[in-house]
Amino acid sequence: MEDRYGHRISYLRVSITDRCNERCTYCMPHELQEWLAREDVLTYEETLRLIRIAAELGVSKVRITGGEPLTRRDVLGFVQRLPAIPGLNDIGISTNGTLLGRETTTGQTMAGALRAAGVNSVNISLDTLDRETYAQTTGRDFLPQVLDGIDAAITAQFPLIKLNCVLMRGRNGDQLIPLIDFAAEKNLILRFIELMPVSHSDVLDETNFLPIAEARRNIEARFGPLIPEPTFRTNGPSTYFKVAGRDQRLGFIGAMTNLHFCESCNKLRLTCDGKLRPCLGSYLEFDIMKVLRAGASDAELRQFFLDVVERKPEQHDFRESYQPGRMMVAIGG
Ligand SMILES: C[S@@+](CC[C@H](N)C(=O)[O-])C[C@H]1O[C@@H](n2cnc3c(N)ncnc32)[C@H](O)[C@@H]1O
Ligand code: SF4
Repeated sequence: MEDRYGHRISYLRVSITDRCNERCTYCMPHELQEWLAREDVLTYEETLRLIRIAAELGVSKVRITGGEPLTRRDVLGFVQRLPAIPGLNDIGISTNGTLLGRETTTGQTMAGALRAAGVNSVNISLDTLDRETYAQTTGRDFLPQVLDGIDAAITAQFPLIKLNCVLMRGRNGDQLIPLIDFAAEKNLILRFIELMPVSHSDVLDETNFLPIAEARRNIEARFGPLIPEPTFRTNGPSTYFKVAGRDQRLGFIGAMTNLHFCESCNKLRLTCDGKLRPCLGSYLEFDIMKVLRAGASDAELRQFFLDVVERKPEQHDFRESYQPGRMMVAIGG
């Protein structure tokens, strides 16, 4: 699948729930969130069918996300069915990490069970190592569980584990060096992500927006110049650097300030309520659940995917006219 601007779509992000056990200020700011009714969420069967069709059209990577994907019932049963889909060769999950260390019914940790099910890459959100700041940012005092979850993921031997930190001036600007040291000690890739006005535009103002260029300057003041690694890619929009004198890789995701950010976009998103969203930073979305539930054939669903890709915008509108209409938690990040 290729759009009008030459973006070749090989990556589908699939949100399987709008629910979450945390309440991050930038994602799900309101305590009283109304969840979607169960019948308005794609069943696993429906989701698997749509992933199979996407794979027939050239998608080779899926990342399961949410909300918090590990809060959905029988998520393991769902994930176990993904490797059988022809064409998929990269299965990832994005999680806040709180449940990775929990024991499953098979006596394994959730991380171990996901690895055994065929997941090869895990992204774990970690904005701070300070317990109080963690609780303020996420609305929950779960840092110890997340640290356990990270260790469980390391024990499970995923080929790729990334820590994701959303940059917020005044909140975690002082955490960059501690997070880098933590990632080095655990031998994990750490990525810094610019705050985006997805759920509501007031998350973003001069006082809390911390651009990646400034974060990089602060990091270089401590570690010396970072060494660019233009050839290292993980299928996402990050640019990577090595820390001099260390075998450590850092990523920077400059969704707001990098004007070339969208050029290499290879993504399409499927929301948990069955909308195909060609771009995170554009209000455009298309209701594939409706046609699927109206009895569409595989050929019709394939055509639906192609029509959506045809409408993928050249770039996101976060910098200009974007009107946040949906919670990040419902889209899936
Ligand atoms: C929506 S979450 C879903 C998966 C999981 N619950 C988690 O927290 O990783 C996916 C990613 O989006 C990031 N995110 C959420 N809201 C954001 C925002 N306004 N700007 C930048 N990143 C955001 C989170 O930090 C997380 O890394
Ligand atoms: S970023 Fe992840 S953990 Fe935080 S509220 Fe959103 S979905 Fe939940």
